[in-house]
Amino acid sequence: MRNSNMTLSKYLINEISVDPELTDLSSLLIDVATAVITISAMLAKGALGGYLGSAEVENVQGEVQKKLDVISNDAFIEQCQWGGQLAGMVSEELELAYQIPAEQERGRYLLLFDPLDGSSNIDFNVSVGTIFSILAKEDNSAATTQDFLRQGINQVAAGYAIYGPSTMLVLTLGRGTHGFTLDRDSGNFILTHPSITIPEETSEYSINTSNSRFWEPPIARYIAECKEGSTGVRNHDFNMRWIASMVAEVHRIILRGGIFMYPRDTRDPSKPGRLRLMYEANPMAMLVEQAGGWASTGRGRMLEVEPTSIHQRIPVILGSKREVERVERYHEEYDAGTDTPYDSPLFGERSLYLDK
Ligand code: F6P
Repeated sequence: MRNSNMTLSKYLINEISVDPELTDLSSLLIDVATAVITISAMLAKGALGGYLGSAEVENVQGEVQKKLDVISNDAFIEQCQWGGQLAGMVSEELELAYQIPAEQERGRYLLLFDPLDGSSNIDFNVSVGTIFSILAKEDNSAATTQDFLRQGINQVAAGYAIYGPSTMLVLTLGRGTHGFTLDRDSGNFILTHPSITIPEETSEYSINTSNSRFWEPPIARYIAECKEGSTGVRNHDFNMRWIASMVAEVHRIILRGGIFMYPRDTRDPSKPGRLRLMYEANPMAMLVEQAGGWASTGRGRMLEVEPTSIHQRIPVILGSKREVERVERYHEEYDAGTDTPYDSPLFGERSLYLDK
């Protein structure tokens, strides 16, 4: 599987030989990889680096920022703004789109990112990640907010870095999903997981079940059936995982299958989901589709959602194709009023899941 000679740079040079238009995009991806190495080095220091703990300020989402959220955001901006490939950036940590300073050269690409996803885990030495999405404009004029509001199918590249026992960069330019592992000795990302394919079927689901009383009926139905396991309609047992770090969850799923859900719930009617469309759901959806999986809101393909704002939240269901399609079908049946009665032993308890 592993080709120790295939560094990220060589991989990108190969891509450019197929499509010379990718030259600027490849330079941008090298800058992104450099930012990832910087963040990885800070995270690896843990408590010794003095970076743990709260920055004691809130971001635009109303979440208290960790010091490392702020430092990672700065690392991304500093590393990526000067190369001349970007027209603008959007970060989870910034309310407004970031403008490339007037003295810097501009390009036509738009970089959207969550610099440190799952950051509630940082202080406890659990895997966290960086997620990014790249869009392209027609020209290199300064980016307006409107320029970023494009469906996920328009992404020209997407990826994430996972900071775990090893640091990996998982990337797609629309020709498969490929995983690179950071060789800390040489400072190179090495292609260790080429052409990742998500197993179609799975027995593993990831969802925060503490929210179950707020779920919509199709999600309650799906999870109830998984929990019934071999005694219910699914006829086999399921396993559950929840790390509370989307990157870690998606990474596990693309390598061994599974389904990840942060669905719509009724906790706060102003928030149709927890995760952000532009720099969490869309890039993950592109990576998952490129690996043969599927990503949905439950009621439609993620990559076809028309964005309305840069920090928009969205319900997310992604992973092994057949499982995601099943959840979509449950939404369809529920919306059409054809989902009852359950042919499940839990039917008699349906009100436990649905009517509160
Ligand atoms: O910001 C998003 C995130 O941290 C994801 O990485 C993770 O999947 C989710 O939130 C965890 O949410 P909760 O704390 O509700 O389990």
